[in-house]
Order: sequence, then C-alpha cells, then structure tokens
Amino acid sequence: MVKKETTKITPWEVEGKVDYDKLIRKFGTSPLDQELVKRIERNAGASHLFLRRGIFFSHRDLNLVMDDYENGKGFFLYTGRGPSGPMHIGHIIPFIMTKWFQERFKVNVYIELTDDEKFLNDEKITLDYSRKWSYENALDIIALGFDPDKTFIFQDTDYIKNIYPMAIKVAKKINFSLVKAVFGFRNDTNIGMIFYPAIQIVPTFFEKKRCLIPAAIDQDPYWRIQRDIAEGFGYYKAAAIHNRFLPPLTGLEGKMSASIPETAIYLHDDEKTVRQKIMKYAFSGGQATVELHRKLGGNPDVDVSFQWLKYLFEPDDSKIKKIEEEYRSGNLLTGELKEILIEKINQFLEKHRSEREKAKEKINEFTQNGILAQQMRNNIFE
Ligand code: TYM
Repeated sequence: MVKKETTKITPWEVEGKVDYDKLIRKFGTSPLDQELVKRIERNAGASHLFLRRGIFFSHRDLNLVMDDYENGKGFFLYTGRGPSGPMHIGHIIPFIMTKWFQERFKVNVYIELTDDEKFLNDEKITLDYSRKWSYENALDIIALGFDPDKTFIFQDTDYIKNIYPMAIKVAKKINFSLVKAVFGFRNDTNIGMIFYPAIQIVPTFFEKKRCLIPAAIDQDPYWRIQRDIAEGFGYYKAAAIHNRFLPPLTGLEGKMSASIPETAIYLHDDEKTVRQKIMKYAFSGGQATVELHRKLGGNPDVDVSFQWLKYLFEPDDSKIKKIEEEYRSGNLLTGELKEILIEKINQFLEKHRSEREKAKEKINEFTQNGILAQQMRNNIFE
C-alpha cells in the first residue's frame, strides 16, 4: 500500500507523515543550522540534546534573539498548554527547552493555560473540565523545574481581564478570511474559536522585548499572524523555535495524541503501564525473528523505542551512538532495546511524580506570589 504523504497540520490536528523540510518551506521558517546552534551554546555556556540532535529543527528570528542577548537588550520566553486532559511525554519537550533557556539566559517565562481554547474547540469538553485540567497540567509544568520568581503561569478564563483590552486591538486587525486560510476555520466554526487566536497572540506583547516561543511547529500559524501586526503596535515580531513531534508509540506518522491512549505515555502512567504499553505497542524496527534480526540487523530510524531515547531519554551522545550501532548490527534485540527505554522512562517518571507532589505547595508562587506573578497580577495590556 502506498503511504499517505499528504500532511495536515493545524494547531488541533496532525495527520500523516510529517515532512519537516517541506514544513520549513511551506511555513517560510528557517532551518536551525549548526552555526546558530553553536552560537546559542556559546551564549548559554552549555549544550542541549534538543539542539544538538535537531529535535528543535526550525526557527524564526532566533539569530535576532541572540543579537539582543549579546548586546544587552535581552528577551523573554512564552509558551503554553491547552488543558484538554492529562499531559503526555511529547508535551513536555517545549517546556524542557523553555526551562533550559530560562536557566541559561536568566529570563522571564510566561506560560498560558488555554482553558478557553480547549472548551471552545471540543464539543465534549466542559469549562469545568478544562479548568480542572489547567491546575493538573500546571503541576506537571512546575515539576519540570521553572524558577518561581521568573515564571508567570496564567489561565485564560482567570487572567482575561488583563489581556482583553489588547486582545480586541489584535482582533480588530485580523479578518475572518485570514483565519480561515491560516487555521482552516469554516463557516460553521463557532465564533469563540474565530476570536481565540487574538488571545494566544497577546502574551507575545507582555514585555517590550523580543519574545522567543519554544513550541512544536503546529503552533506556528499564530506567530505568522502576530508577525504581520506586531510592529504596527510598536512591539517586536515574535521569534520562535520549533520542535518536531515526539512520534506516537505505534509508528512514526502523525503526533502522539492524548486522545488515543495506546499512542502515548502519560506523565501519570505507573511503572506497570509503561512496561505494558511499550512491550505491546512500541513500533519496532526489528526483524520478524531473532535469527533474521541477528543476520540483517534492526532499523533504528523507524524504531519508536530508539527514537524516544534519541529525542528525550538518553542524553549521553556516546551511549545513544552505541545503542544505534548495536541495534543496526543486530547485536541488540528489539526486546532489549525496549527494556532500556522502559527503565529510562520509569526513572524519569519516578522523579516527576515526586517533583509534582512538591509543586502542589509551590503553585501559588507561579500564579500569584512570586516576583513576576505579583508584577503581572495588576498589569493590564493595552
Ligand atoms: P497543546 O496543549 O496542544 O501542546 C502543548 C505543547 O506541546 C507541543 N506538542 C508536542 N510536542 C512534541 N511532541 C508532540 N507529540 C506534541 N504535541 C504537542 C505543542 O506544540 C505545544 O507547544 N494552543 C496551545 C497552548 C498555547 C501555546 C502558547 C503553546 C497557548 N499559548 C504558546 C505554545 C506556545 C495548545 O493547545 O498546546
């Protein structure tokens, strides 16, 4: 059967095989090349596997962010989460990158929880539900280690008073035919969704500095619109750094989806569930029998366990190289590779669970009492 090559990518849907080079051309972004990675590493005084290994593969104006950093103007970070339910291990990629930039460059981070978006976008999601998940997701985000004095986490339905004046100014500059073309809205799309992009754009104006947004490439359509209107308001065009989608357990197409449980490992999955899911569903690049595998070797390029180690769970470059070679040569069997991944994920999740417990005590610092949160409570953007 010929594989479907057509890709559909919007902030709400990713279907088919994702051709990242094609997306760079289609969206008009720039590839994140080694020269720029080296420059970031020089300024950061450290290297990150997401940058070294091309997990973040594309950007907008990241070179200008580095200019601003080098000449002392500085920048700030913005990212977010749509609280539609539990978070999976793909969702944390942009947050881990954001936290790294915060730590290395000592800059403020704004995190938007879009309870409004998720309520509007899905018939089945009630407002109570997306509000409850805003809290739960905030704990998972805080558990990743953000600085409480330099991070403000806000939930749209709560913070809207501060955002609304700017949101209507933004909305006035965007017409229906544009959002139809950019997001694929239709005549029967509810008008809440049609307005929503204004709300996701406003946080790029939280400071009069350049805003850098780490997110998967599916969120880029918002930044494209932002970049058309920002300078008219006296602000900078948003800069962005785009990550690939962590592939679903079941194979390399599309993205891991929180609504299809067998494609995802959730942050709340226990050790047994992690083991069961990986053993049962992780798409293998191995051969049909041990004999054949020893003879022909496996294919790490399509093997999801290998890809997850490369994306997230094995930061040591020499170890990942060894695993790749051993798997390709047939020395390492699929079952053994899965065991390596299971152990790594369970180690990560064990630490995550304990940090998440601590986050319950700390959440008010991020939403109310920390230095940045206090500053933001009374700021009205207009
Ligand atoms: P949401 O909740 O769909 O996704 C949260 C973040 O995770 C990225 N992402 C992934 N990254 C790697 N692998 C995957 N399989 C994967 N699936 C999703 C998303 O790109 C996103 O960065 N509308 C947004 C919330 C939002 C936001 C923002 C996101 C508001 N403001 C600013 C980024 C930046 C949403 O529903 O994200």
